Amino acid sequence: MVATVVALLALGACTGPAEPPPTSTSTEPVASEPRPSASPTVSLRTVAPKDLLIGSSVVGGGHLSGTDHPQPLESDAAYRQLLATQFATLTPENALKWASVEPARDTYDFAAGDAAVAFAEQHGEQVRGHNLMWHQSNPAWLTEGGFTPDQLRQILHDHISTVVGHYRGRIAAWDVANEIFDDYGRLQAGDPFTDALGVGIVADAFRWAHEADPAAVLYLNDYNVESSAAKRQAYLDLARQLLAQGVPLGGMGIQGHLSLQYPPFPPDFRSTLQAFADLGLDVAITELDVRMALTGGEATGDQLATQADWYRQAVAGCLAVARCVSVTMWGLPDTYSWVPATFTGQGAATPFIDDSTAKPAFDALVAALQAGRT
Ligand code: XIL
Repeated sequence: MVATVVALLALGACTGPAEPPPTSTSTEPVASEPRPSASPTVSLRTVAPKDLLIGSSVVGGGHLSGTDHPQPLESDAAYRQLLATQFATLTPENALKWASVEPARDTYDFAAGDAAVAFAEQHGEQVRGHNLMWHQSNPAWLTEGGFTPDQLRQILHDHISTVVGHYRGRIAAWDVANEIFDDYGRLQAGDPFTDALGVGIVADAFRWAHEADPAAVLYLNDYNVESSAAKRQAYLDLARQLLAQGVPLGGMGIQGHLSLQYPPFPPDFRSTLQAFADLGLDVAITELDVRMALTGGEATGDQLATQADWYRQAVAGCLAVARCVSVTMWGLPDTYSWVPATFTGQGAATPFIDDSTAKPAFDALVAALQAGRT
């Protein structure tokens, strides 16, 4: 019952108070339940230690393409306000992926990427570029072009040089190679470049990105690195090899797509960050969200409390690793998140219900950041 009230309050905050919440007849201590705190009065960006950037994706495209809000940065003033005030680094969610930015060969569309980068600059925020190679974001002209290995090499070179070159000096970090290993630590099948040219092409991708912008910190990036030992080992081995070859690898991105359906909080989260830091790399949590099954259609108070604790643990893990430079959250607020569109029956994955309504996870983030580096 209490959970229902909380859920209804949350819904009311989202859609306006269409009807009053039912009167509780429960004797449970309602006041102790976690509940959404309306409009945050503090900024994550301000409470974070100076050497840890708190970030958000800039939603748009992808799962939002067919909706009536395909680019919220253009259409939603409250969203702009949220991005402008809470964060110190922004990552375009889809605008810089291959299919968005080079939809036809040698034809580039930088409009959405340029808008996000300009917005970040206007508000003194950094930008993470996402991404240069990802088997799930390739346009049909590339995957169905019947190209030879030599042609693919040329295509990748031209794409990276053009996109990274376009933003030279304006994008602080790039996810160069995204999700190149599967959960068994094998090279991900279905990537046209590694399928045709092997893992060696990844080294070239980093070299070409570095030539195009020597100042950008260049990352590998993937999910489940904290929970799959095989995948983690594959990345540690690759990172060592690349560094030994003098390849300009600068960082490891831990995406951090977590789910309350797989408890507990990944016990190896912090040690995974530390293992890459020990190689001399920066580490970043690049796409943090904590999704959950919404059995009654809404999150329960217990779920929101556990979610808050997982956000706290993720940030605490980063704070405990000196080389952990940023924590970026993915797809906030819940109303724009990719989760319901991707994981059937799941959602409520971000620290905000809507543009102006924070959840218990937000308060947990504030507290963790105020505690500072450990
Ligand atoms: C997702 C976006 O959020 C969606 O809008 C899009 O439809 C698919 O991609 N790992 C990544 C991100 O590296 O680029 C993905 O983003 C989520 C998983």
